[in-house]
Amino acid sequence: MRITGTGSELPKRVVTNDELMTFLDTSDEWITSRTGISKRRVLSDESLDKLAASAAAKALENAGIGANELDLMICSNVMGPYITPGLSCIVQGLIGAHCPCFDINAACAGFIYALDMAKAYLDSNKAANILIVSAEAVSHMTDWNDRATCVLFGDGAGAVVVSKGEGLRAVRLGTTSNTEVLYQKQITGNSPFELNQVKDPSLVMNGQEVYKFAVSVSAEDVKAVLEQSGIQAQDVKYFLLHQANHRILEAVRSRLHQGKEKFPVNLDRLGNTSSASIPILLDELNRQGKLSDGDILAMSAFGAGLVNGACVIQWNFK
Ligand code: UT7
Repeated sequence: MRITGTGSELPKRVVTNDELMTFLDTSDEWITSRTGISKRRVLSDESLDKLAASAAAKALENAGIGANELDLMICSNVMGPYITPGLSCIVQGLIGAHCPCFDINAACAGFIYALDMAKAYLDSNKAANILIVSAEAVSHMTDWNDRATCVLFGDGAGAVVVSKGEGLRAVRLGTTSNTEVLYQKQITGNSPFELNQVKDPSLVMNGQEVYKFAVSVSAEDVKAVLEQSGIQAQDVKYFLLHQANHRILEAVRSRLHQGKEKFPVNLDRLGNTSSASIPILLDELNRQGKLSDGDILAMSAFGAGLVNGACVIQWNFK
């Protein structure tokens, strides 16, 4: 499997830490020092499906193929505009594709899970061109009165086209069932028979527990995929870590003994965009001309589940 095109799209509305201070008991100092985030993008008059479709169209254009050449689309998404149909079905219509489509929810690790699934489809010759779109509207999930969570997140979409080739050198996925430290319940409807109705769910997070999980699993995963692929950390051009918190990035970086320049960041401008954070980061690097054929990229993500995933990719674009 190799990545042949990337794209991303962001909502136009920028929300700074100062703006959050107008309705929350928080400060720019607290948010930047604890998280590294100074602003984020949030959906206002756009819809997530259009954002996802725009990222997808850019990735197709970058890959030089049409939507009609796609054999499969996988959307990674936690909460789309509909419970059903899935986001991928809506995006398919918007970009004019005709391939089978489905969604996966592996929280913030969804992009890595989708890459692994795409590889399986390519390896079994069930598909030649696959579109992966990671699109998240976390601003629709958080309680905007809860300063401990809403300041952390942002919305966005990232997409890649993958085709056959030599690129994905190693993958490692993991799941540790835990519905205590990071979760959001589903509304149960108004069934008169349901005794435990959930009416007003919002995202709940024990930040310190997620933090501990993230730091230990991410460093361990990256070391494992590097070992699997026979690549040394010093030979990695960029480590693309899920953009959750700059302190997590720093802790993982110091465990890997690598320089800051190898850890690109969009967290400061975009907040935590869940599974979209890594493909957006990848698209930024690609469009800035910072990737050359042969470059080694290590990716690592973690999130609600608890799930974790990491991979090593050799950039073979042309
Ligand atoms: O995508 C994966 C999902 N999430 C993550 O990866 C998040 C991982 N965890 C984290 O990034 C950090 O745990 C947080 C940034 C969420 C929190 O940082 P922390 O250093 O663990 O802070 P804390 O939760 O221990 O809170 C410290 C204090 C508390 O006040 P008291 O009890 O000490 O008086 C909080 O009430 O900071 C308070 N606080 C705030 N103060 C100002 C919490 N949120 C805010 C806020 N502004 N926005």
